[in-house]
Amino acid sequence: MKFDLPEKASIETLQIDVRDVEAVLQGPAMKLPPFPGATVKLKDGRTLFIREARLDEAPKMMEYMERIMKVDHDFYDIVGARVYAEILGWYRHRLKDPYTLVGLVDGVWAGFANGRVMNEKVNISLHTVALDRGGRIGAVMYYAKAYYAFEMIKNTEWWATYESYNGWMRWGLGMAQPSYPWPDVQHELGGGRVYYVTKSYWDQLIKDYVKQMAGGAELDFNVPDSIRKANENFTVPEGINV
Ligand SMILES: CC(C)(COP(=O)(O)OP(=O)(O)OC[C@H]1O[C@@H](n2cnc3c(N)ncnc32)[C@H](O)[C@@H]1OP(=O)(O)O)[C@@H](O)C(=O)NCCC(=O)NCCS
Repeated sequence: MKFDLPEKASIETLQIDVRDVEAVLQGPAMKLPPFPGATVKLKDGRTLFIREARLDEAPKMMEYMERIMKVDHDFYDIVGARVYAEILGWYRHRLKDPYTLVGLVDGVWAGFANGRVMNEKVNISLHTVALDRGGRIGAVMYYAKAYYAFEMIKNTEWWATYESYNGWMRWGLGMAQPSYPWPDVQHELGGGRVYYVTKSYWDQLIKDYVKQMAGGAELDFNVPDSIRKANENFTVPEGINV
């Protein structure tokens, strides 16, 4: 849009450094505590190590997600496509305060969970994916990110929505999550219902969830160096195992 000038300007064309634009587009990041890394003994006896993904790991994660988005069952396609976009959003600094957790078994990528911090109060759950089925890896990954939100970031509310039957069954039903009136309140992932967990509900009910899901085990933050070392770098699964 161009308007006539109400006063003479000594320089009529301003030069803009895109670094200045970048500061406006990104906004300042919140100071989030790091997720320290935790193990969970899965029902089937394997040890899942959950840690934050590093930015340099994003390209191989996106490459694998390109394959996951071609899977035509259980909504892996839409979730894979959206996760690809979210990893890219994190990689290109186009998501506000994202966090990205990977679940690893012996150095192989087995689970994914991410979200973003909307503000000091609300944590938005984005996606959880099991890349290896039947071990309840997805259930545990989701619990780990909610634990991070409530216990470490100190958010007081958790907002989720569900695209798949398995996701709804695991957490909407599995955590007996209430939802806000719909369509009055909509989740940013396509406008579905917002299922929410408050801090008091978390304390009352949900802290027990991972024990029920993983056959008695809790998140264990005393991670042996050998496990950290074995999962310092990870490879993506050879094939598609979902
Ligand atoms: C939702 C999700 C993360 C849950 O992962 P999970 O907790 O590890 O559970 P799974 O999906 O592997 O399995 C769910 C149940 O079906 C069974 N199952 C389904 N498909 C299976 C398969 N191909 N192999 C083995 N078991 C399977 C499991 O044994 C399990 O039964 P259980 O409740 O007795 O443990 C996972 O289904 C997933 O990644 N789905 C696609 C992405 C998605 O929908 N994300 C959530 C968006 S809302």
